[in-house]
Amino acid sequence: MESPFKEDIVRGKVALITGGGSGIGLEISTQFGKHGASIAIMGRRKQVLDSAVSALQSLGIKAVGFVGDVRKQEDAKRVVESTFKHFGRLDILVNAAAGNFLVSAEDLSPNGFKTVMDIDSVGTFTMCYEALKYLKKGGPGRGSSSGGTILNISATLHYTASWYQIHVSAAKAAIDSITRNLALEWGTDYDIRVNGIAPGPISGTPGLSKLVPDEIDNKAHEYMPLYKPGDKWDIAMAALYLACDSGKYVNGTTLIVDGGLWLSRPRH
Ligand code: HXC
Repeated sequence: MESPFKEDIVRGKVALITGGGSGIGLEISTQFGKHGASIAIMGRRKQVLDSAVSALQSLGIKAVGFVGDVRKQEDAKRVVESTFKHFGRLDILVNAAAGNFLVSAEDLSPNGFKTVMDIDSVGTFTMCYEALKYLKKGGPGRGSSSGGTILNISATLHYTASWYQIHVSAAKAAIDSITRNLALEWGTDYDIRVNGIAPGPISGTPGLSKLVPDEIDNKAHEYMPLYKPGDKWDIAMAALYLACDSGKYVNGTTLIVDGGLWLSRPRH
């Protein structure tokens, strides 16, 4: 689908996207690149990164991949520094890396719970922590007039409660809290805007194929009036809106992009 935004809205910006090699992260990388940004993607699997970088480059996008695990602070530090060394600045950090699986609370080991908290919540904070130096107003590679921005990919499942998702619900709730607190502290001190996006079910993502079995998908529209999977494109357009000047007065919010699904109740 054609973008409603001008081609140059993030021209000259450098974006680092964790989990940028696949799913929603790759679509954000692609759309940021198509709108003028240079792209660094971070992920654990070299093969996935390599093919994503090739795909981005074939579109004429300046792209580089760095292997790393957001659970390791040394990886986070190295990747942020490598991005700066490669492109000379860092303007946008997108935390899209996530771990997930369906499991009942009674069958989930504390280490399984911790694993998802470590990837989603602690990983998000660690990346923000390491990127601060480059994103802050007056930081290396940027002038004294403005800071960069951070986008944290969240979810809607913790607004209520979700079966077999206690770990992810807790992790995404923590992410929303990180978004608000960093928006307050770093918005005030460093002119860094920090926002989130809460996608609904998105076609062609691991989230949808792993978490929504086909039989639920097929029947969902019967008991969830607003059920309609979105496209990765929908999330990338929201990311562009928040990351560029159109979102300059938006700070500390998590934009729900789910077609209204989480509000949905059966019709009586
Ligand atoms: C129960 C599980 C499990 C499963 C792992 N564990 N998978 N428990 N059911 N299916 C437990 C393990 O038993 C272990 O605990 C602990 O978690 C760590 O497991 P490892 O395999 O050692 O972890 P690791 O190799 O680091 O992998 C972590 C991972 C990750 C979370 C499993 O590889 C992963 O899921 N990647 C998928 C990425 C993905 O799908 N991303 C999109 C997410 S979608 P014990 O106690 O045995 O040591 C998304 C959308 C959310 O986020 C919103 C949806 C609406």
